[in-house]
Amino acid sequence: MKYFFLAYAIIAIAVVGVFKYRGHHFSEPPIVLLPDMDDQDVLKAQKPDSFFADGQGARQPVQHTAPIGFQKDGATNLGGIPEYEFSGGSGYYFTGQVGDYFGTGMPEELKLTPENATELLARGEERFNVYCSVCHGSSGDGQGMTSKYGVPGIANLMMFTPEIYPDGRMFDVITKGKGNMSGYGYNVPVRDRWAIISYIRAMQVARKAPYDAVKKSYDEGKAKQDSTKPSAK
Ligand code: HEC
Repeated sequence: MKYFFLAYAIIAIAVVGVFKYRGHHFSEPPIVLLPDMDDQDVLKAQKPDSFFADGQGARQPVQHTAPIGFQKDGATNLGGIPEYEFSGGSGYYFTGQVGDYFGTGMPEELKLTPENATELLARGEERFNVYCSVCHGSSGDGQGMTSKYGVPGIANLMMFTPEIYPDGRMFDVITKGKGNMSGYGYNVPVRDRWAIISYIRAMQVARKAPYDAVKKSYDEGKAKQDSTKPSAK
C-alpha cells in the first residue's frame, strides 16, 4: 500500500510538472492539435495594434457610411426621418404591440390623410413586390417563385385577415421573421413595414369583393384612362 501512495504522489507531481496547475500562466503558446480558428489575425476592440499608423485597434466608421440599424438624430421622435427609421422606439408604431398584446389598425405616427394613404399603399405595393412576393407570390397566396423551387410551408397571406391576425402581429413577423422566413427588421424601415401591411390588407379586401363590383369599377377606371390617353391617329 505504501508503494501505491508513493507512486500516486510521484505521478501527481509529474502531471502537474508537465501540464502545470490550474490558472498557471504559460509564456509559450500552447500546443494545439485542432486549432479550430482559435488564433486569428483580427483587430481586438479597445486594444492597441501596430497595423494602423495611429497604433489603435479600434477604428472610426468609414466616412459617409452608416452602420446597420443606425439612428439619425431625432429619427425616433415624431417628425424625424422615416426613411432611416429601422427600430429603436417603443410603442405601437415600433413594435406592433399595445401593452402586452398585438394591436390592430394603422398607427397615428403615419399621419394618414386620404391623399397620403394612396401614396402609402403604392409604396406598400412596390415594397411587397421587392421583399415578399418571391415567396408569398404577387397576389399573396404563398405561391411565389421560391415555392416552385421547394421552399415548404409558405403562408397564404390571404388567410391572415384582421379578424384573426392583428396588424401588429404582422408587423412583428415582418420585423423578426418566423420559421423559414427571416426577419426584415434590418432591411425594411418601420414606415415601409406598415405600408406593406396596408397593401396586404388591400389585397385581402379586393379578394373578397364581389366580381360585379370589381368589374364595374375596373371598367369605369379603364374608360377614364382611355378617354385621357392621347388618341393614336
Ligand atoms: C424566403 C421566403 C419568404 C419571404 C421573402 C417572406 N416570407 Fe413570409 N413566410 C415565409 C414562410 C416559409 C412562412 C411560414 C412560416 C412558419 O409558419 O413557420 C411565412 C409566414 C409569413 C406570415 C405568417 C406568419 C404566422 O404567424 O404564421 C406573414 C404575415 C408573412 N410571412 C409576411 C411576410 C411579408 C410581409 C414579407 C415581406 C416583407 C414576407 N413574409 C417575406 C416565407 C417568406
